[in-house]
Amino acid sequence: MLAGDGIGLEVIPQAVKVIEASGAAVEFTEFDWGAARYLADGTTVPADGFAMLGREFDAILVGAFGDPRVLSNIHAKEILLGMRFKMDLYANVRPVRLLDAGLCPLKCVEPKDVDFVVVRENTEGVYGDVGGVFKQGTEDEVAVQEDINTRKGVERVVRYALDYCETHPKADGERRGRVLMGDKSNAMTHAGGLWQRVFQEVGREYPQIKAEHMYVDALCMQMVRDPRQFDVIVTNNMFGDIITDLAAGLQGGLGMAASGNIRPGRTSMFEPVHGSAPPIAGKNVANPMGAMLSAAMMLEYLGMKSEAQRIEAAVLEAVRQKKTTQDIGGSLGTREVGAWVADWVAKG
Ligand code: NAD
Ligand code: IPM
Ligand code: MN
Repeated sequence: MLAGDGIGLEVIPQAVKVIEASGAAVEFTEFDWGAARYLADGTTVPADGFAMLGREFDAILVGAFGDPRVLSNIHAKEILLGMRFKMDLYANVRPVRLLDAGLCPLKCVEPKDVDFVVVRENTEGVYGDVGGVFKQGTEDEVAVQEDINTRKGVERVVRYALDYCETHPKADGERRGRVLMGDKSNAMTHAGGLWQRVFQEVGREYPQIKAEHMYVDALCMQMVRDPRQFDVIVTNNMFGDIITDLAAGLQGGLGMAASGNIRPGRTSMFEPVHGSAPPIAGKNVANPMGAMLSAAMMLEYLGMKSEAQRIEAAVLEAVRQKKTTQDIGGSLGTREVGAWVADWVAKG
């Protein structure tokens, strides 16, 4: 478990508390990787760190990284993106589920209307940080940020999204049967062309699933106008990052959004979608539910489905009874929400 920085240090202990209340057979080891350690001794990831995580653990629960004292954000890049890239956690799965109509800023939208998932490619794209700066500091400065898209990388994440339909029904039990690929192939023709071809080719192997497409700009508009139309969305790294913050808005904000960084069959990593939120850190106001729902995703990944479902049910009940933090309309603190949900999990 890596709580990280800022509100990560507050929400992760609450997520651990609810896992423990569920009785799940999970043993935790805590690592202090983050800004404080980096500032103290210059280490971001200890030597052999990622190999050690892969060897010794089945899953990793993460808070958030980012600290105003580390302007370069180098530790976040090396730890968080390091795990995603070096452990090859290629599918970033971000479920978008509305738990209560009151949490959604849209009119006339009920929980059944917002139940889709974004599968974000997690190991390539512009996040590879390939490129460079030429003539830095002069009037002729040039910055190049390459967008890396490999056939293997696109194919495996598209396949993951298609397979997800078989394994993850909607909350009401309905089967998922549509996968929509979001891109900008009208402007970025090389990368977009590869995504288009691979999506069509792989999609043909899944005749029972409807393959759909939208340009990502239009997708953003549709997500706000009518989220009912989405089922599974697959997209590249950067578009996936952006649309999942937008999608978090439909769920009640960043405090509610959960994610898994998955490499099937291998050590995978689970974290809330939000960041370290420095302005609210240390005040016991951060919403721990995104972290709790990420913990539930982790238990499901580890095969502990009933424990995962109990955590999800307890979070839903807390939302219904307004036992929540202020960002979603309640009056409890981070720790108090943790205690309430843990208690409900233990009773359930
Ligand atoms: P952020 O997610 O930290 O905060 C965005 C907004 O959402 C803020 O208004 C914040 O108060 C609110 N918010 C976020 N999580 C919340 C919660 N659990 N409860 C209540 N309110 C919540 O994004 P940011 O401000 O753009 O970034 C802050 C730092 O976090 C930066 O250093 C950034 O790079 C980093 N970051 C890290 C991760 C990660 O580690 N996975 C993700 C996103 C951002
Ligand atoms: C996320 C975050 C990260 C990303 C940042 C912190 C590098 O925004 O997990 O969504 O862009 O992937
Ligand atoms: Mn993000």
